[in-house]
Amino acid sequence: MNIQKPVNSVLNLIGNTPLLEVTNIDTGPCKLFLKLESQNPGGSIKDRPAKYMIEDAEKNGKLFRGGLIIEATAGNTGIGLALIALLRGYKCLIVVPDKMAKEKIIHLEALGAEVIITRSDVEKGHPEYYADLAQSIADKNKGSLYINQFGNQANLNAHFEWTGPEILHQLSNKVDAFCAGVGTGGTITGVGKALKKINKNCDIILADPVGSILEPTFKTGIIPDHVGSWLVEGIGEDYIPPLLDLKIITHAYAISDKEAIDTCHLILKKEGVLAGSSSGTLISAAIKYCKEQNRPKNVVTLVCDTGNKYLKIYDKNWLVENKYN
Ligand SMILES: Cc1ncc(COP(=O)(O)O)c(C=O)c1O
Repeated sequence: MNIQKPVNSVLNLIGNTPLLEVTNIDTGPCKLFLKLESQNPGGSIKDRPAKYMIEDAEKNGKLFRGGLIIEATAGNTGIGLALIALLRGYKCLIVVPDKMAKEKIIHLEALGAEVIITRSDVEKGHPEYYADLAQSIADKNKGSLYINQFGNQANLNAHFEWTGPEILHQLSNKVDAFCAGVGTGGTITGVGKALKKINKNCDIILADPVGSILEPTFKTGIIPDHVGSWLVEGIGEDYIPPLLDLKIITHAYAISDKEAIDTCHLILKKEGVLAGSSSGTLISAAIKYCKEQNRPKNVVTLVCDTGNKYLKIYDKNWLVENKYN
């Protein structure tokens, strides 16, 4: 029996997440493993960078007792930050684009964070774009800390020093491919570099929503001037985020919202895992990659967050109304 010893803070339960092998879905000659980041206390992979970024700011004297933490986020980083802020006595203000799930906003407010909802139909550089708005609020609040996950090296380090090595440990260093989406690029770059340190031939697979500029940029080398829109939350970009090292990516797949939702249903029905919408994008891309291989490989992808935050994608009526059935 794998029994955990008692811990004295929920923050000590971040990380050390289980790795589940997919056994009831066709993955060609490959073994596909799902890292269940949904089991972090805040319900997502973002608890890890939230902890790293706050501890980095504490160590570097950028955050003081009772200080105000500000961040722009699709919600999950905010939940991680708000959880840590609550337990360590900081104030927290989160700027969220209006397409994000209501459940995340309720969760943030219940954790005591102030939530500012802004437009999701504007691009970087617009004053109402979530990151630009968070920066301008921070500029007006002297002594506050703008976490800026998009430009914060501690975000990437959380995955390079923690998530990546954890995956390697769980698979005795035998990892042939890793598949992730890109929000800030911290996960794919940090985990990717950790895996490549052990196996330089490890494939790094980008799972990108149709409409994002990342997959076409990877495939053509040209940044498209048109950005589409997509339903899945937390991944897909309208620019190349500074933490993303495009050079480590070896494969890329553009996945439609319909494919992502269908894959969420598949993973629930076949493996019993209630995954968030973006995990459908990742798992769909990982399965495509697996089926294209002609030799056995260990492939890892993520259940980035729990489907409890997006129950609508499991709701029959919503699927019919939105033509995803
Ligand atoms: C919900 C969600 N958030 C975040 C990420 C990755 O984020 P980042 O690139 O910011 O590390 C992913 C996917 O890999 C995701 O599915």
